Amino acid sequence: MKILLLGKDGQVGWELQRALAPLGTLVALGRTGKDGLSGDLSDPQALRATVDAVAPDVIVNAAAHTAVDKAESEPELARCINAEAPAVLAQAAARRGALLVHYSTDYVFDGSGDTPWREDDATGPLSVYGRTKLDGEAAIRASGCAHLILRTSWVYAARGGNFAKTMLRLAAARERLTVIADQIGAPTGAELIADVSAHALRSVRADAGLSGTYHLAAAGETSWHGYANFVIDAARAHGMVLKVAEIAPIPTTDYPTPATRPLNSRLDTTRLCAAFGLRMPDWQLGVARMLVEALPGQR
Ligand SMILES: NC(=O)c1ccc[n+]([C@@H]2O[C@H](COP(=O)([O-])OP(=O)(O)OC[C@H]3O[C@@H](n4cnc5c(N)ncnc54)[C@H](OP(=O)(O)O)[C@@H]3O)[C@@H](O)[C@H]2O)c1
Repeated sequence: MKILLLGKDGQVGWELQRALAPLGTLVALGRTGKDGLSGDLSDPQALRATVDAVAPDVIVNAAAHTAVDKAESEPELARCINAEAPAVLAQAAARRGALLVHYSTDYVFDGSGDTPWREDDATGPLSVYGRTKLDGEAAIRASGCAHLILRTSWVYAARGGNFAKTMLRLAAARERLTVIADQIGAPTGAELIADVSAHALRSVRADAGLSGTYHLAAAGETSWHGYANFVIDAARAHGMVLKVAEIAPIPTTDYPTPATRPLNSRLDTTRLCAAFGLRMPDWQLGVARMLVEALPGQR
């Protein structure tokens, strides 16, 4: 099996390089590409040429315009990367009879209610990012290619910056933190996403009837405030000295941002677990593992 991975240096892309490697021949491209192959999703023509040149059996697209607030001021670029490029990849996959694995987001929903979103629930994105990701999903479905659209939420990874590391930096420097307490979701590790992707990809290759849209998130739920408390308690338990004495919960309205975020980001993973014989681990497990890697002197 030949796999073309796009976005190899992102949080999920980095972990996919590990998880996909044993499955076949892996051609992994970042934004700048290599060996004359372009990995730039803002250049649809070059992207098409890359797929033709690599001739993959599976395309895994981990690249996206993920700067949610910035997308509000550069909607054309966000649309090109999040909607037009997936359309090009899907058409190329359909032509070749290849499988396309693509990632989407809880931000396709409007965040109303307090029950976990199911795959068939009505969408209603609140931001340019959410709208363009939703249009990317629609283009993939319309192409008729075999696909896995995996909607996930609140992604973190040990590599690079993340919310947990930001909280620890602030907690070391300040006595009081304010953190949003009315957005609810499940922090989901890039490692988990990559491992589930590799497993599901093999299953869809064996049974094309499994092609479709699935929600992929860790089990359980919390707010950003609950997430921050968990991280700070865990860091202290590991002996990290932190200055913070108060972590005050605030509503989203007290922290205005250019893009509106959904309050309810819960994703129901029943369909994914049933289709692929999986069980999602609690979100705390992955975050605790990531902290062991991220905290100084904890290996
Ligand atoms: N992060 C989250 O909380 C979250 C939540 C739900 C769903 N998702 C979805 O999960 C998937 C993976 O996200 P992630 O967290 O791994 O994102 P990430 O860490 O921001 O990685 C995205 C990657 O895409 C690359 N990229 C951006 N523009 C590109 C272009 N024009 N051509 C080629 N590559 C380009 C980025 O490169 P540069 O670093 O050079 O810009 C980066 O390596 C995405 O589809 C995202 O929408 C993410």
